[in-house]
Amino acid sequence: MDNIKQYVQENKERFLNELIELLKIPSVSADSAYSQDVIDTANAVKTSLEKAGCDFVELCETPGYPIVYGEKIIDASLPTVLVYGHYDVQPADPIELWTSPPFEPVIKATELHPEGAIFARGACDDKGQMYMHVKAFEYMIQNNCLPCNVKFMIEGEEEVGSASLGWFVERNQAKLANDVILISDTGMISNQQPSITTGLRGLSYVEVEVTGPNRDLHSGLYGGAVANPINILTKMIASLHDENNHITIPGFYDKVEELSIAEREKMAQRPYSEDAYKKALDIEEVYGETGYTTNERNSIRPTLDVNGIWGGYTGEGAKTVIASKAFAKISMRLVPNQDWEEITKLFTKHFESIAPKAAKVKVTPHHGGQGYVTPIDSVGYQAAAKAYADTFGIQPIPVRSGGSIPIVALFEKELKSKTIMMGFGLDSDAIHSPNEHFGVFNYLKGIETIPLFYKYFTELSK
Ligand code: BES
Ligand code: MN
Ligand code: MN
Repeated sequence: MDNIKQYVQENKERFLNELIELLKIPSVSADSAYSQDVIDTANAVKTSLEKAGCDFVELCETPGYPIVYGEKIIDASLPTVLVYGHYDVQPADPIELWTSPPFEPVIKATELHPEGAIFARGACDDKGQMYMHVKAFEYMIQNNCLPCNVKFMIEGEEEVGSASLGWFVERNQAKLANDVILISDTGMISNQQPSITTGLRGLSYVEVEVTGPNRDLHSGLYGGAVANPINILTKMIASLHDENNHITIPGFYDKVEELSIAEREKMAQRPYSEDAYKKALDIEEVYGETGYTTNERNSIRPTLDVNGIWGGYTGEGAKTVIASKAFAKISMRLVPNQDWEEITKLFTKHFESIAPKAAKVKVTPHHGGQGYVTPIDSVGYQAAAKAYADTFGIQPIPVRSGGSIPIVALFEKELKSKTIMMGFGLDSDAIHSPNEHFGVFNYLKGIETIPLFYKYFTELSK
């Protein structure tokens, strides 16, 4: 694998152009207007796996979008790496905040990516990171150095909760049998300090509806005499945190794992600048749960956030009205041991209990998933650490992330193997935001690092 650097340099333009073509297809899984594009993307991924050297590739039909499955089995006695990624992307809106159209990729330099970054929806999450695996695989085939078996499982519903993937995994355990699962769908600390994600938060996502009177009312004739569902909803939401920004739902923290002082001290050793953090977000001060640092608040602590809230009149000008209904979408990020279905129940019970008699409350669970932590003494982690150390020239740091990939906990349950998260994105890459991008350096570094994971994983598994 000594010539991987050279191979990446020689094929750099083609690697970038192929990714750009993939990014042009708007595979937004949340919006049915794009359903044909999502399917077209699945087909494009299938073709790319065939071209890269898989022996067998298929689109596996599911109740939702197809799963692209591909494999190259060289010897049943060798280990098998299962690569997971997703070809769907988040909606691009608000479109007007993009400096270039989200599905017309362009390469522009940024402060953290002086050598350029590809700007497009899905550039980092996850088309760019998924495609690194296809190109790393191509290299190993072209250079006759694939050391073990590979399976690819690339889905199209990650951004909407992976419902079909759960269905697929439960039904295909033998087909998906593997020794380790490899995912690039997370980030790292910086291009100077790589890190490996060892934890993901779980998630419970709910929608709430508050109903007051049976129709919209004149706010002069009825105002003050009936419950205004927007007033009620905002009051209820405000009560979900106390003055220390602790969540007030009874039982919410019961299963939260308290890290030891030693573990928290170790966490605090990672390079981090609160000033740079505030500057990047244009905020005067950070905000969160009393007693925890920013890095603890966004990784080892559970949270509750309103993701959207609506009701009443929001058009131009003024309309004097008391709405009949008000709505909000609420997400709770959970830590390992908190069970998402139990938390959803606790939330529902509490939210219903705090509603005044004058209004009706309905809670509808959307989706969720369990959190995940992976040990750092596993063969997979050690192999990944060696791979990063080789290509970055510095030892990677284990870091727990605040994001969620709910399917990872299910993989462990159904397929009985550990997941290694080799992410190459940066927090500043604006995933889910306008102007999402992925550094050219990061893309190429990923392609360079992944084959070394295969090499070390195979060697260490002996
Ligand atoms: N790739 C992200 C998750 C992620 C990003 C984890 C960065 C760690 C670091 C994934 O595509 C995602 O957006 N997940 C959703 C959950 C899903 C159920 C919609 C999330 O975290 O909001
Ligand atoms: Mn993702
Ligand atoms: Mn995402």
